[in-house]
Amino acid sequence: MDIRPFGVEMWMNEFETKCELNLAETCVESITLGELFEMAGQHNRILNDLSAIKMTYGAIEGSDRLRDAICGLYENQTRGNILTTHGTIGANALVHQTLVSHGDHVISVIPTYQQHYSIPESIGAEIELLHLTPETEFLPDLDKLRAMVRPDTRLIAINNPNNPTGALMDRTMLEQIVDIARSVGAWLLCDEVYRGTDQTGDGFTAAVADLYEKGISTAGMSKAYSLAGLRVGWIAGPKKMLHDVMIQRDYNTISIGQVDEFLAAMALENRDKILARAQRITRENLRIVEDWIANEPLLSWVPPKSGTTALLKYDLPMSSRDFCVMLLQEEGVMLTPGSAMDMEGWLRLGYSNPTADLKTGLEKLSGFLARHSVAQNAGN
Ligand SMILES: Cc1ncc(COP(=O)(O)O)c(C=O)c1O
Repeated sequence: MDIRPFGVEMWMNEFETKCELNLAETCVESITLGELFEMAGQHNRILNDLSAIKMTYGAIEGSDRLRDAICGLYENQTRGNILTTHGTIGANALVHQTLVSHGDHVISVIPTYQQHYSIPESIGAEIELLHLTPETEFLPDLDKLRAMVRPDTRLIAINNPNNPTGALMDRTMLEQIVDIARSVGAWLLCDEVYRGTDQTGDGFTAAVADLYEKGISTAGMSKAYSLAGLRVGWIAGPKKMLHDVMIQRDYNTISIGQVDEFLAAMALENRDKILARAQRITRENLRIVEDWIANEPLLSWVPPKSGTTALLKYDLPMSSRDFCVMLLQEEGVMLTPGSAMDMEGWLRLGYSNPTADLKTGLEKLSGFLARHSVAQNAGN
């Protein structure tokens, strides 16, 4: 299968272990298993329970306990509407591989996680991109979407909250998108891996699986739940669609690790504590970024409403990759270049790592910007 290299993942693979201060991370700072056990209480019982697990493949479609815990995140989903996967990345890949065929018309927002347009493209679908722009605060222009859909539109892929922009579509906007999808009978896939990190309220906005009979929500444990190491994700959606996904999944998954599923269920059963921590980090850290950016004349942005990242527009005559490589070399600070997500001229800042790292990283970034702006002025 011919597929475009995954820009962001390649950037991460190359530099993630070499930087001093990682402001490219998209997970809310990961927790240790010890911290998880502490939040769940009953440390010793957990170890006993783990010791008793017989290491078979386990429940093929996901353990009942985990799927029940996942249902608690939705308004209308029951165990049979949930299938566990290897991360959200596995959930997205399975949905695209199951629903999209050569020649299908597929619409994806951009910027987003590259899977949503590069996998359908690799399958030979006719992919059309709905550009999210700062003029509309990175929210989709629904008139444009209405004009794009066709009777043969198979799937519309959206991402809420959005990576990289941090934009958040509210329930009303999601319902309008559902109406557009329904008008042509298209599937609506919403990647909701950042759900739970909204800057206000309980952190949760509606899930499309709850809003539409052909709505599919994908999500996982990595971002809001700070447990990327578990590699547990899921698909929530109609049973018939999950049955079709299972036909693909049998070829590449068998089951998700029993230990991972056990720990994921325990985390979701104690999600109040995990989410309170995540929201404290994302909310406090975003205030720091807001104060900082107000004093940076070379940067502009649309403040995020959710998620863990922000897109920054910079006013310097260099490519986003050159910017990020020089920043790494000169300051040891890692951002993600917009070019890795088809957004040249922008930088992605992950602001949900430890507050102290964020503060030091931003100070170093200020130094870098000041130096290069002086150099630029001297050159003029
Ligand atoms: C929008 C989006 N979807 C999916 C993923 C993959 O998440 P997971 O670690 O759950 O596989 C990421 C990771 O960065 C992401 O940003």
